[in-house]
Amino acid sequence: MSLIIESLTHLGAGRANDGTLVPRTLPGEEVALRPDGTAQILMPSAKRVAAPCRHFKTCGGCALQHAADDFVADWKQTVVARALYAHGLEPEFRPMHTSPTQSRRRAKFSGRRTKSGAMVGFHARASDVLVAVPECQLVTPRLLAGIPMLEALTVIAASRRGEIALTVTDSTAGLDVLVQTDQRLTDQLRIELAGFAQHHKLSRLTWVDETVVTLRDPVQIFGPGAVTPPPGAFLQATEDGEATLRRGVMEIIGGAPKVVDLFAGCGTFSLPLAQTAEVTAVEGEATMIAALDRGWRSAKGVKRLTGITRDLFRRPLEPDELNRFDAAVIDPPRAGAAAQIATLADSQIRTVAMVSCNPVTFGRDVASLVAAGFTLNWVHVVDQFRWSPHVEMVASLTRA
Ligand SMILES: C[S@@+](CC[C@H](N)C(=O)[O-])C[C@H]1O[C@@H](n2cnc3c(N)ncnc32)[C@H](O)[C@@H]1O
Repeated sequence: MSLIIESLTHLGAGRANDGTLVPRTLPGEEVALRPDGTAQILMPSAKRVAAPCRHFKTCGGCALQHAADDFVADWKQTVVARALYAHGLEPEFRPMHTSPTQSRRRAKFSGRRTKSGAMVGFHARASDVLVAVPECQLVTPRLLAGIPMLEALTVIAASRRGEIALTVTDSTAGLDVLVQTDQRLTDQLRIELAGFAQHHKLSRLTWVDETVVTLRDPVQIFGPGAVTPPPGAFLQATEDGEATLRRGVMEIIGGAPKVVDLFAGCGTFSLPLAQTAEVTAVEGEATMIAALDRGWRSAKGVKRLTGITRDLFRRPLEPDELNRFDAAVIDPPRAGAAAQIATLADSQIRTVAMVSCNPVTFGRDVASLVAAGFTLNWVHVVDQFRWSPHVEMVASLTRA
């Protein structure tokens, strides 16, 4: 029996006319299901392309390599437009920006020991099976070149049966590696790992929550400042995506003299903004604020930057605190920022740059600001999660 694919789910799987979900299909396609649940394409969409990566068939890391770039761009923008339309909002969209291939600067690989050594890769879709990805088209060449090193590390770090997680961040100072494993860190292991990091020219090696060795600070450059993020701390997925979001934020904030950066992380936006404004950066993680503060102290030609550690879900900045600023940047996690948005709405702030990675909470939070008199001037969708169903966006909101 054949099925016609009618739409894509928010995770990018095809939804057929009878409701069946068929991954790796596109709207308009006629497909038949094989006994293993994969799709045989009977009538392909004009937007179907040959996957650029030879691992796509087996690897679950990417969901949308079978679709043309312009289709993915349209689809992602439509997801955001629908989330806003649900609140009666139909803003101007800037043409979507997609990060290039091989530009993801952080990846979480899995590692497992094998009879002959170890294997490092990504999981197959919805599966425990690990797939080696020596020609992955997503991550930076430096991350890719690190896979043999990660395999050697897996031999040291993984038990015979268990799997370990390896979060690797690209930095010009060398790879920054965070190992998550059940194995205890002994003195003997510490010595071995320090030698390992030196041999492989890592910038830093962290074992669960203990940094074993920092040979060079794994710095990230945020405008005028060089910041060393804590191991595993949030970082925009690609440098290119970060630059696009930053340009949007800087344009919205303009020359505002006093700016508050809410959910500031390690200062992705705070430090560039500090070139022209006095900035207060508010963030829940004390280690990130400490990293930002060190980055600011080493930066040249910047105005005052004050870092505050505060839980903005439980204790959002109140209107009287917000009224000291001319403009706000807000970039919450996927849950959005309902409480902080409510006090922003009640404040006298008239310029907001909103950055988000979740269309649903973005729609809700933007709608709350619009209800408080803001105009949603434009939205720019940025695809720094190429071939995945995720999106990122920056929006300009102002009120008279
Ligand atoms: C999407 S990231 C953005 C970080 C930063 N703006 C950037 O671009 O690098 C969201 C940030 O919110 C912080 N966060 C999460 N929950 C929080 C809370 N309840 N209060 C304050 N910050 C929180 C996270 O630690 C993270 O740094």
